[in-house]
Order: sequence, then structure tokens, then C-alpha cells
Amino acid sequence: MKGIVFNEFFSLVDEAFGAEVTEKIIVDAELANDGAYTGVGNYDTAEMVRLVKCLHAETNVPVADLLQTFGKHLLGIFKAGHTAYFESCKSLFEFVRSVEDQIHVDVLKLYPDAELPHLTATQVSSDELSLVYRSSRRMADLAEGLLWGAIDHYGETIELTRTELPDVDGDQCAQFTLVRR
Ligand code: HEM
Repeated sequence: MKGIVFNEFFSLVDEAFGAEVTEKIIVDAELANDGAYTGVGNYDTAEMVRLVKCLHAETNVPVADLLQTFGKHLLGIFKAGHTAYFESCKSLFEFVRSVEDQIHVDVLKLYPDAELPHLTATQVSSDELSLVYRSSRRMADLAEGLLWGAIDHYGETIELTRTELPDVDGDQCAQFTLVRR
């Protein structure tokens, strides 16, 4: 997982719970590099999982909620850095359909070692889109938060439902259904 993701996580924890909590979880999570991440470096996703678990221990907020909140925050950060993507997609469905084939493809060009999920978007009808998430990183909660962030950005009335699917070769799989109202 990219260092930028860790650094954004720390700034959100600073903001939401205070710098002392950030420092405490960095110590508790026993990180290899004492919490120093360079933006373009690649780090073990297990460190993020440990950090989120320590934050849960510290705050009592469920892990899933923490990851979803973080995903929503991350979408805002991506938006600030890549406004062109958001401007070129005129609707939420267009944006979500472009993540796998365009956005994450560009991410890989920029960072060939990026670890990205498989996202399969299917337009079920004009008002319904299905997105299937699959990844060994098991970050469907983060994906859900990113989706909520995108829903907020486009300001459309969307009903989002999530269905857990069975693991495939140890990868977490989940289906998100987005219905426009
Ligand atoms: C709703 C839209 C999006 C969804 C659902 C999504 C989903 C995800 C998820 C769940 C991950 C964590 C890795 C994993 O689970 O395997 C990830 C990583 C990432 N995504 Fe996306 N993403 C979205 C939009 C974007 C956008 C707009 C950008 C940038 C413009 C972006 C750039 C990245 C980057 C840089 C990573 C980190 C790769 C790494 O740590 O190695 N994503 N994405």
C-alpha cells in the first residue's frame, strides 16, 4: 500500500481524534519504520490493518466504520489531486465505471507497484449499476467509503447496498449495488 495512503490516514486520525492518538497507535502497531512513510514508497498492507485495529482499540469505533470514514476522506483527497477525472465524468455511474478501466490504469502507470483491487462494473439498467470488488487486501470497507465519497461528490440520490460474496482464492469479494432514485 502506498505511503500517501498511510500519511492521509494519519492526518485524518490527527483531525478526528488528536495527535496523541495518532502517536499512540503508531507505537501500538509496532510498525517497521516507526510511522515514517514516503508518499511513493510501498508498504505492507498488514501495517494499515494493524493501525486500524489499534485505532479501534483506542476509540471503540468499529473497524468497518473507521475504514469507511477513511475511504470517504480519501476520495476527497483524490478529488483534489485529480480534478480532471471528476470533471470528465458527468455522472456517478460514469465515474464508477471508469475507475477500473481508466483511473486505476493510470495509477498503475504512475506507480507500477500499486496494489489495486479488481473492480467489475456492470450497468444493470439505466438506473442501476453493480460493482463487484475483489482483492487480497480485503478492503471492501474502504471501497464502500470511497463510493460514499463519490456519491456525495455527484450529489445524486443513490441507494447503495452491499452483499458479501464468498472468497475467491482467499480474496475478499463484495458486490455493491447502486440504484439511482
Ligand atoms: C469509487 C471509486 C473508487 C473505488 C471503489 C476504489 C477502490 C480502491 C480500493 C478498495 C483500494 C485499496 C486496495 C485494495 O483494496 O486492493 C484502492 C487503492 C487505490 N486507489 Fe482506488 N478506488 C476508487 C477511486 C480512486 C480514484 C479516483 C483514485 C485516484 C485518482 C484512486 C487511486 C488509488 C490509489 C493511488 C490506490 C492505492 C494503491 C496502493 O496503495 O498501492 N482510486 N482503490
